[in-house]
Amino acid sequence: MLIIKGGRVIDPKSGTDAVMDVLVKDGTIAEVSAGGAEPWLAEAGNRGEEISVLDASGLAVAPGLIDVHVHFRDPGFTYKEDIQTGARAAAAGGFTTVICMANTKPPVDNVETLEYVLSEGKKTGIHVLTAANITVGMKGEQLTDMELLKAHGAAGFTDDGMPLKNAALVKQAMEEAVRLNVPLSFHEEDPSLIANNGINQGAVSAQLGIGGSPAAAEDVLVARDCMLALHTGAVIDIQHISSGNSVRMVELAKQMGAHVMAEVTPHHFTLDETAVLTHGSLAKMNPPLRTAADRQEILRGLREGVIDIIATDHAPHSAEEKSRPLTQTHSGIIGLETALSLGVTHLVRAGHLSMVQLLEKMSLNPAILYHLEGTKGWLGAGADADLVIFDPEASWTVEHFQSKSSNSPFIGETLHGVVRYTICGGKIVWENR
Ligand code: DOR
Ligand code: ZN
Repeated sequence: MLIIKGGRVIDPKSGTDAVMDVLVKDGTIAEVSAGGAEPWLAEAGNRGEEISVLDASGLAVAPGLIDVHVHFRDPGFTYKEDIQTGARAAAAGGFTTVICMANTKPPVDNVETLEYVLSEGKKTGIHVLTAANITVGMKGEQLTDMELLKAHGAAGFTDDGMPLKNAALVKQAMEEAVRLNVPLSFHEEDPSLIANNGINQGAVSAQLGIGGSPAAAEDVLVARDCMLALHTGAVIDIQHISSGNSVRMVELAKQMGAHVMAEVTPHHFTLDETAVLTHGSLAKMNPPLRTAADRQEILRGLREGVIDIIATDHAPHSAEEKSRPLTQTHSGIIGLETALSLGVTHLVRAGHLSMVQLLEKMSLNPAILYHLEGTKGWLGAGADADLVIFDPEASWTVEHFQSKSSNSPFIGETLHGVVRYTICGGKIVWENR
């Protein structure tokens, strides 16, 4: 048994933000109550039970974070990351559940690769789930056997990294997803409108003499898929939203009754296209960082609940890959170890969200999308003892990573919010005191 004593318990499900004690038994939260620690200790003493006490005074105690969008690169690109190092980076960032994307080599369009990822994931201290591909070989031509892949444990479906061009195929995938009751996640950028990916088409791309990727490329696919979701009834996730018009489109689709959720990355709510001028390839990702006005619309979307989920799009690449010229370098940055701190610093301390709202977007809503909310994404009796315990006031300077890669534009920045413990299934899987 474990007692987490005197922490600021934050539960997005009940809206609780108060000093409480938490009792953990057999990997489950048995009880949460103010002043519960003394009677629990006395009872345990009477029964001769072993009990450890973790002093959480001054710390926030929240449900373990859930990231619906990570790239662990395993199999195929393990020089960038593997499932073990990815899981360690996740635990260091306060995450206890992650959903891996399926753009591995081979991709997760077959049962063997799916089972490999899941069995490697079980060897880590956290819950590593994975999406499988929507189309065979991520070619956008033929649907995978979604029913078979779901039966073997696929949490959802995506061709993340490769936008789907064929609307009829997307509609067919949505109909199948409705039948199977699984979410679909979409990377929304129409390649026919893109000159160079990873850099917004606008003032900065013009200054650099690069064609860039316009917001219109994102907006047209977001509009298409929101309307297809409305017509099919599918539950869809608009991945890494970056354009203000796409935020408005999701808002409209929700008003119309579509089952659309949207995720935003910490870099898209923190930075804009000008970061490319200072950080070069470390500010190149798909979809790109956009204008200051787009970022303001993202912040509004977060405040008003249009954007439900914060997901990192943790995309490790090697130093060599990121040192190539801007138009040739890979897109994407790592994010697991800085996500919570960027949220605390740029959303909570900046006054856009309360701590409860931040945790809702980093635990409860992701759990709802992936049907995990029976026991995950909230903190109360009966929930899994998956927890993050962090100091919201302490600051740290971003420097070293548990990830195999270090492609982050946030290196050297001082952020608020330090993860002290990550607990998964009642066991401490990360500690930093
Ligand atoms: O920037 C990105 N990198 N966006 C994606 O959608 C894929 C990711 C990757 O796999 O590197
Ligand atoms: Zn993507």
